[in-house]
Amino acid sequence: MTDTAAVTDWQAWQRSWDRQQEWYLPDREERFRVMLDAVEAVVGPEPRILDLACGTGSISDRALRRFPGATTTGVDLDPALLTIARGHFAAEPRAEFVTADLRDPGWTERLPHRAYDAVLTATALHWLRSDELRVLYGQVAGVVREGGVFLNADHMPDPATPRLNAADHAYQKARQARAKAEGAQDWADWWQTAARDEALAGPVAERFAIFGNPANGDHADGETQSVAWHVETLRAAGFGEARAVWCSPSDAMVLGLK
Ligand SMILES: C[S@@+](CC[C@H](N)C(=O)[O-])C[C@H]1O[C@@H](n2cnc3c(N)ncnc32)[C@H](O)[C@@H]1O
Repeated sequence: MTDTAAVTDWQAWQRSWDRQQEWYLPDREERFRVMLDAVEAVVGPEPRILDLACGTGSISDRALRRFPGATTTGVDLDPALLTIARGHFAAEPRAEFVTADLRDPGWTERLPHRAYDAVLTATALHWLRSDELRVLYGQVAGVVREGGVFLNADHMPDPATPRLNAADHAYQKARQARAKAEGAQDWADWWQTAARDEALAGPVAERFAIFGNPANGDHADGETQSVAWHVETLRAAGFGEARAVWCSPSDAMVLGLK
């Protein structure tokens, strides 16, 4: 670790990531709570958790605060977000992080455990295309132990309600504009701030080489699917039960029970 990294306030970076994500998802903490309620209900209060596409490790953070006996493995491809995660959890022996591309056929071989009680993910799998996500769900089914649980909270619009979708979209845009006028950072702003940070500039440059620079409008080429698609695909992947356990007008959380 460099001297700069040693003095960087990683907790502050974790908090600023959370604020930026909340600009998009004001109910983000509520969805984490529902997610962890389902984990506790299905596998109990000492879960071994895989935090898929973990970013800075927000789900791991909530899980480790709530469950003293939990352990977490976070997987992500982004060197900058993983730098924040590794800094934030430097003194936390229950958390570990793995660099891997979830589109890589061999990514599960990098995990420190063969099986997990719970595989959790939020606001991430829409970065993948449907064919890639179908393959990933098959791999996840191989990593969740029998009786274990998978939870994915993400954008899952319902094409059957176009007027509601349009009204919600307009409402969210107005809310975001008000928050921005009060100083909130969106995705592109946050990344430009991170790029200017001495300790993060290198990992952010690597990140831009992998995913592109949000200042140029770059984002992943993924797709969103309906709740019905997720449920059907989880069942086909080998989950015995699958259904939505939470929803908002634009997003939902699907659960698969092995
Ligand atoms: C919006 S962030 C959400 C992070 C975290 N789950 C949260 O709620 O704060 C989406 C994450 O998906 C990760 N991601 C996207 N595509 C990926 C891939 N192919 N392999 C691994 N991680 C990926 C990104 O690097 C990013 O950390």
